Amino acid sequence: MHTKFFDKEKMIFNKVSKAAAELNVPAFLIGGFVRDKIIGRPTKDADIVCLGDGIALAEAVANKFHPKPYVSFFKNFGTAQIKVDGFEIEFVGARKESYNYESRNPVVVPGTLEDDQDRRDFTINALAISLNENDFGNLIDPFNGLHDIKHKIIQTPLAPLQTFSDDPLRMMRAIRFASQLNFSIEEKTFAAIVDNAERIKIISQERITDELNKIMLSPKPSVGLDLLSKSGLMQIIFPQMMALHGAEYVDGLGHKDNFYHTLQVVDNICENTNDLWLRWAALLHDIGKPQTKRFEEGHGFTFHGHEVVGARMVPKIFSKLKLPMNEKMKFVQKLVLLHLRPISVTQENITDSAIRRLLFDAGEDIDALMILCEADITSKNKQKVKRYLQNFEMVRQRMKEVEEKDHLRNWQPPITGEMIMATFGLEPSRNVGIIKDAIREAILDGIIPNSYEAAHLFMLQKAAELNLQPV
Ligand code: CTP
Repeated sequence: MHTKFFDKEKMIFNKVSKAAAELNVPAFLIGGFVRDKIIGRPTKDADIVCLGDGIALAEAVANKFHPKPYVSFFKNFGTAQIKVDGFEIEFVGARKESYNYESRNPVVVPGTLEDDQDRRDFTINALAISLNENDFGNLIDPFNGLHDIKHKIIQTPLAPLQTFSDDPLRMMRAIRFASQLNFSIEEKTFAAIVDNAERIKIISQERITDELNKIMLSPKPSVGLDLLSKSGLMQIIFPQMMALHGAEYVDGLGHKDNFYHTLQVVDNICENTNDLWLRWAALLHDIGKPQTKRFEEGHGFTFHGHEVVGARMVPKIFSKLKLPMNEKMKFVQKLVLLHLRPISVTQENITDSAIRRLLFDAGEDIDALMILCEADITSKNKQKVKRYLQNFEMVRQRMKEVEEKDHLRNWQPPITGEMIMATFGLEPSRNVGIIKDAIREAILDGIIPNSYEAAHLFMLQKAAELNLQPV
């Protein structure tokens, strides 16, 4: 099989081919680049493995470009990189020893191309393309990776136990590729993940979370999330998700399985956003349900306050998973806390003030919140779905009207704490807060209009009640 390269790739690989011939060091494209080329996915960086010194080959290739690109290298690992036209190429000598991804003192024992292919994670990642002058472009596929790509199968080249012992993160990688590519994990490979799930504990949280985020960014994260659950990995890396499992029935009254509901919400939201954090908000929106579950006689199961409990869990989960503890976390937390609010304003007799409060509380995240709420509709009853969507459309319409009138997005009340302190000669104190909150509430409730004049007058009245006089 001959591979189709783009012109730029061809130009670069021809130079690699020449440099390799001059050094008498056979060179091959390998790994993700080859896999994605065959699948027809956009390729990113290219890995080149050579039967010799990877750093020397990188130098020789760099010398063929004018101006010469910078060669960065890690002597310990025997790897080197160059970047040409934004295209990154990594060179490494073929090795026999296992890929010691974490170790600071890797043992690099030179090997043949086949040794190197043996030690890779999956058959679909072990394909090589020759860059040598006599058979340039030829595919070298000792493990039938091409067959596995065609049949959408993920399996290890060697016995799965050995491949996973070399680097237990590969268990998560298998699931991540299944989710990204919509492939199935071959039975024995999956059984080995189930048997060895505990070994994920020796992997750093950063590498685990990186894979989890790749699953969250895949087209249908439910594929990966369900496999994480079924393999036993989820229980170890993210037990709070497992607590969502299970539907329960008492006296014919039941509740849905919150785990599969959540997976459906995540898939739904992925159709409308690529934003990782909005996807995380979907994953965590019901995370407080297990803790708040109650059975009310004659009524059924309730989850009162699950949004508050869930919002409280968000920082703990982010911290444990080493996700950023910054405004991204705050965004997810806010959405979890507010995810029922647009539903509550779909009920009858919605007042302008209810809409105003929603706009104020959600602020600039109101659009994200509406996307989450729409994704949260997972009923199988088409009529119901239609009705809920119409209700949300009505909320959007009302929000637009109120927004046009009151401009509440990113709104701040017209009277600040500083103004209150200056007017009454106050230091920061309780009374300043009381007056400030009263003004905000009065505007949100529609008691006074959203203007400086009205707010100023209201401030004077409120201060008088507290026996405060302007200075
Ligand atoms: N590899 C491996 N075991 C790992 C990580 C990587 O065997 N734990 C090998 C695979 O052959 C893989 C190649 O190194 O194809 C490059 O790894 P990486 O860049 O992490 O992944 P890609 O396969 O390129 O995929 P992606 O870029 O989507 O992460």
